[in-house]
Amino acid sequence: MTKANNVEILLIKSNDEYFAVTSKCAHLGLGLKGGKVNSEEKTITCPWHDSQFCLKTGETKQWVTMSGIKKYLLFLIPKKTPLNTTTFDVKIEDNHLWLKPI
Ligand code: FES
Repeated sequence: MTKANNVEILLIKSNDEYFAVTSKCAHLGLGLKGGKVNSEEKTITCPWHDSQFCLKTGETKQWVTMSGIKKYLLFLIPKKTPLNTTTFDVKIEDNHLWLKPI
């Protein structure tokens, strides 16, 4: 995790590829840290309510679909229109990490 311009950013290394995404989920602003990364699909799934975002573009691939016992608690969660998340281009140069919002 790092911070740039007061925004917490989650840095992810997956299959020798680096990704950067805002650390707060677009759904309720809870942390994406600990979310499941799918290296092949290049996605991260929020550990709270299973929304899934593309690590390259920030596009929402899945929105609030909980499984198991958690699905019975869905009615407690505020309804919200799906939102994409913010991702960053990552460039490493001379031991410096450069991030540029996409
Ligand atoms: S906070 Fe991430 S899906 Fe709800």
